Amino acid sequence: MKKLTSEELRNKYIEFFKDKGHKQIASASVIPENDPTVLFTTAGMHPLVPYLLGEKHPQGNRLTDFQKCVRTGDIDEVGDNSHCTFFEMLGNWSLGDYFKQEMIPWSYEFLTSEKYLGIDKSQIAVTVFAGNENSPRDTESAKIWEECGIAKEDIYYLPDNWWGPAGTTGPCGPDSEMFIKVKEKCCEACNPSCDCGAFLEIWNDVFMAYNKTADGKFEPLAQRNVDTGMGLERTLCVLNGKKSVYDTDLFEDALKKLEEVTGLTYGSDAGVTKAFRVILDHTRTAVFMIGDQKGIVPSNIDQGYILRRLLRRAIRYARQVNLNDEGLLEIAKTFIQKYENVYPELQQNREKIITEIAKEHQKFSRTLEAGLREFEKVVKKLDGNTIDGTTAFHLFETFGFPIEITQELAKERNLNVDEQGFKDAFAKHQQLSRAGSEQKFACGLADNQEATTNLHTATHLLHAALKKVISPDINQKGSNITAERLRFDFNLPRPCTMEELAEVEQMVNDVIKQNIPVVMQEKSCEQAKQENFIGLFDNKYGETVKTYSIGEFSKEICGGPHAKQTGDLGTFKIVKEQSSGAGVRRIKAILEK
Ligand code: ALA
Repeated sequence: MKKLTSEELRNKYIEFFKDKGHKQIASASVIPENDPTVLFTTAGMHPLVPYLLGEKHPQGNRLTDFQKCVRTGDIDEVGDNSHCTFFEMLGNWSLGDYFKQEMIPWSYEFLTSEKYLGIDKSQIAVTVFAGNENSPRDTESAKIWEECGIAKEDIYYLPDNWWGPAGTTGPCGPDSEMFIKVKEKCCEACNPSCDCGAFLEIWNDVFMAYNKTADGKFEPLAQRNVDTGMGLERTLCVLNGKKSVYDTDLFEDALKKLEEVTGLTYGSDAGVTKAFRVILDHTRTAVFMIGDQKGIVPSNIDQGYILRRLLRRAIRYARQVNLNDEGLLEIAKTFIQKYENVYPELQQNREKIITEIAKEHQKFSRTLEAGLREFEKVVKKLDGNTIDGTTAFHLFETFGFPIEITQELAKERNLNVDEQGFKDAFAKHQQLSRAGSEQKFACGLADNQEATTNLHTATHLLHAALKKVISPDINQKGSNITAERLRFDFNLPRPCTMEELAEVEQMVNDVIKQNIPVVMQEKSCEQAKQENFIGLFDNKYGETVKTYSIGEFSKEICGGPHAKQTGDLGTFKIVKEQSSGAGVRRIKAILEK
């Protein structure tokens, strides 16, 4: 087995397939072009989907490349030996050209030839598809492997040897995977799908003959393709006899830098090892996401949110090993340097990468300490051992804690987090923001005058409900009503929780449903105060004031006008809650008919 550097492995792969008549194509963006079903490019074949489905590729029907990929399905497993959120996939494709009869012998040659990887055939095990109702048992591939020289007992028929599609629909087919036998089998029944670690997968040949349709059917493709993928990190790890992908040359410089800046030694204790790995992996992925040709920046939606989660998790682990913002940027710069020759976009976007990471660090560091304190409070008050979704969402919304951080903190104390509850709260929040940004207003036939009058009455109901739900000390700090929405500012030194907002909304809608008459009475200022009417602009009132009451629920001194009864209002909906200066919150709400 050859000890190769990452650069040598990439070059050898490309060289081998160029020799077999392939054209090298450039790595596409980590953001898929025309696939709304997934956020990131997850495999080398992903950018080639149209060509696998039959479109003509300008470079011909034999292609090879190394492709930037991101898989974030198991962010929280990063820190073990083999999980990375970013990886490079070496690959080659036949677009309706060669098939098993060529591909399997080539795979064998690349793996075993002294000119390439030089792996002894006795160290290789392969798997082939055992067959099901969609596609037959792949005895053909098994036979070809055997003819190449792989022993019968090293060829396994497995039911899960099927790859794709990359999204929910698209090209897919049975595959044949190649493994290195790294240690003794754990038992007689042990096979490459066993997770004892005896076998390590490095390459996958997919014999792509089907297209999975939206209704879950597998229809035969017009052309038979080959799609292969070799994980660069894993293969390097095996070739060099390393235990972990973090021990390969890809991470070497960044790891050294990390040791230098923190004064800690990688491997000295499990906590440091895990923190280092998370920092290395997440920073590398962030560098590639921000520095991508379609670069993204941290945000609260889609790809930007995944990036934010990665960076914030890295920042929390950085804090554990006393790595400050400067230190984290040093790590990012080391990765740019390591990769910029292979991926020139990192060089082009260098400034952007550094600025965005620095900005996110600044943002999150501000709330991290307070969030950790809040988390301690939550734990103290906790009844049972599950942190509910609303609380987890509050930690996110107010302190910027992505779910992984709350989950990890919880795990350290043997607690759980209601992840679904968090997701529900998150989804609801996004809906609210969307409703807000679209300025939805479905006040039916109401004209402007009627609309603002109704919203004015709704403002009184909101004010009263806030006092009841949050605190009697809440007071109006400002109000603005248009025909579309109400805007209400009030004193509160923190954001409202989703729970509070939901309760306020519910309470207002309950009063609306009861169809309570809105009653105007003129009173002396003195009397109004005695009867606990809320006086908003005390100093502006003369002797006699107009008062509006809605049952006992709301009593305010006010000039009007107002709706006749609450039943006229429709459905009250809070669309936004945000800061409006120090200690002041702002709610925007609408009425829907
Ligand atoms: N598309 C195949 C994989 O990702 C090669 O394993």
